[in-house]
Amino acid sequence: MAEGLLQIVVLVSGSGSNLQSIIDHIGSGDLDARIAAVISDNPDAYGLDRARQAGIPALALPPGDYPTGDTYDSALTKLVNQYNPQLIVLAGFMRILGAGFVNRFSTRIVNIHPSLLPKHRGLHTHQKAIDAGDTEHGATVHFVTTNLDDGPIIVQASVNIEPGDNAESLQQRVLRQEHIIYPRAIQWIADGTTDFHNPRPL
Ligand code: GRF
Repeated sequence: MAEGLLQIVVLVSGSGSNLQSIIDHIGSGDLDARIAAVISDNPDAYGLDRARQAGIPALALPPGDYPTGDTYDSALTKLVNQYNPQLIVLAGFMRILGAGFVNRFSTRIVNIHPSLLPKHRGLHTHQKAIDAGDTEHGATVHFVTTNLDDGPIIVQASVNIEPGDNAESLQQRVLRQEHIIYPRAIQWIADGTTDFHNPRPL
């Protein structure tokens, strides 16, 4: 994948600050990628507005329109496929993707999770880290497998947990790190130094 721009599709559910960071890194020439489309399960996601503002096709696929998780997954697979992405980037996509989707795009899906995996999978990671008495917390970019918040780790960033931190202050500090490491990890994939089988660049 070292030639040309890496074609990506980004899936979001909410604010899309990680999407914005990816857009900005592409804009400044620091990321050799092209966002073919941004797709959200939530029609009101601010991430869709960010995409539109950047001139990127922005599409909503609400789960309520589908009778089962499987039919939703099939529709999402079909929609993503239309853009022929080389990489699918989950950036705050809050649905658990089914095996059909993951296997269809096997080894070509990445996610960012707000914890130092394998610690604190799932939701409410910042509070979990505080409750556990951890002294540090952070974020992980990893390839996606059918197991939740699992799969080969590409890069992590950590922050200290300070006395007086609450979930929100910690989240803000971790998010700033996310905005740095996600574009970096995608660039490693774009330049061929990272893939599913060799997740950590030399
Ligand atoms: C981030 O904390 C990310 O790690 C998690 O969901 C959040 C998305 O934030 N997967 P944003 O929508 O990119 O602002």
